[in-house]
Amino acid sequence: MDTNKRPETMERITTPELANAFIDEQVAAVRAQVGDKKVLLALSGGVDSSVVAALLIKAIGKQLVCVHVNHGLMRKGESEQVIEVFRNQLDANLIYIDATDRFLDLLKDVAEPEKKRKIIGGEFIKVFDEEASKLEGISFLAQGTIYPDILESDGVKAHHNVGGLPEDMQFELVEPVKLLFKDEVRVVGKALGLPASMVDRQPFPGPGLGVRCLGAITRDRLHALREADAILREEFENAGLNKTVWQYFIAVPDMKSVGVRNDKRYEGWPAIIRAINTTDAMSATIEEIPYALLHKITARITAEVEGINRVLYDLTPKPVGTIEWE
Ligand code: XMP
Repeated sequence: MDTNKRPETMERITTPELANAFIDEQVAAVRAQVGDKKVLLALSGGVDSSVVAALLIKAIGKQLVCVHVNHGLMRKGESEQVIEVFRNQLDANLIYIDATDRFLDLLKDVAEPEKKRKIIGGEFIKVFDEEASKLEGISFLAQGTIYPDILESDGVKAHHNVGGLPEDMQFELVEPVKLLFKDEVRVVGKALGLPASMVDRQPFPGPGLGVRCLGAITRDRLHALREADAILREEFENAGLNKTVWQYFIAVPDMKSVGVRNDKRYEGWPAIIRAINTTDAMSATIEEIPYALLHKITARITAEVEGINRVLYDLTPKPVGTIEWE
């Protein structure tokens, strides 16, 4: 039997009851596979790895070792949420590594997008590898592979998976959600008690804010981007748009324009709003954000974020614009 093929008889998981049945089945399967051995998981805080973590905690508790690498390119509050949910609430065995300086030092003066991606992906593997080699007695590697990853493994998404792990790692894989579609992973995550803010989150690229802080990343511009992005997210949540808009974020280019603040000349970067809808990320349309909300977001970002003096709204569908700016 091809274990990477979803059986035609497998029912789509849409209800808590179906999710609980799936969880019971996987808990038993994981226990049978793992026995009393240890399992390692790179926990990014994204939907898939978070659901796998919660499932494995239920199945094998402290035999799971989660490693969360903060590459310094996370959105505001994300690493804190991983620690709060997994270490504090679920009592997981969680190793937290703040590798911000390592990543930002390597990325200094690097402006070319693909080079930035390579550096981030390569360094991620290095940091994770270093941590893994410090641990003793790990026999398994868990991964948040989902069914579309298997279906598209030689397709478009391949170059996106910067979180990919070294091929020479000698671990057997534990991939409990590999036959599930994204919507099912979310239903399972909710049944496992993960917070909605974690389970319903929008897609976030592996290289994180690194591909939204355009050109060569500087710490001050990265900080401005993170703060502006947090305001956009907060206002979308207040307006209920987080429930309907597929992906929304801020990009900050490496350019300044002249402005005025407190009667003085004020040079700053523009914050570019991107808010799109799509089903498969291959093409995308623009969300028509109400003007009143755009004005509010603009007022808040320009007043609250140091270094930003204009807010722009990207009206370009995909194609011809990609979703991300880099
Ligand atoms: P584009 O910009 O190609 O994005 O229209 C399509 C979708 O993929 C996400 N994306 C990435 N995800 N690593 C990822 O894990 C990446 O390097 C990456 N680049 C883009 C993007 O956010 C959008 O959802």
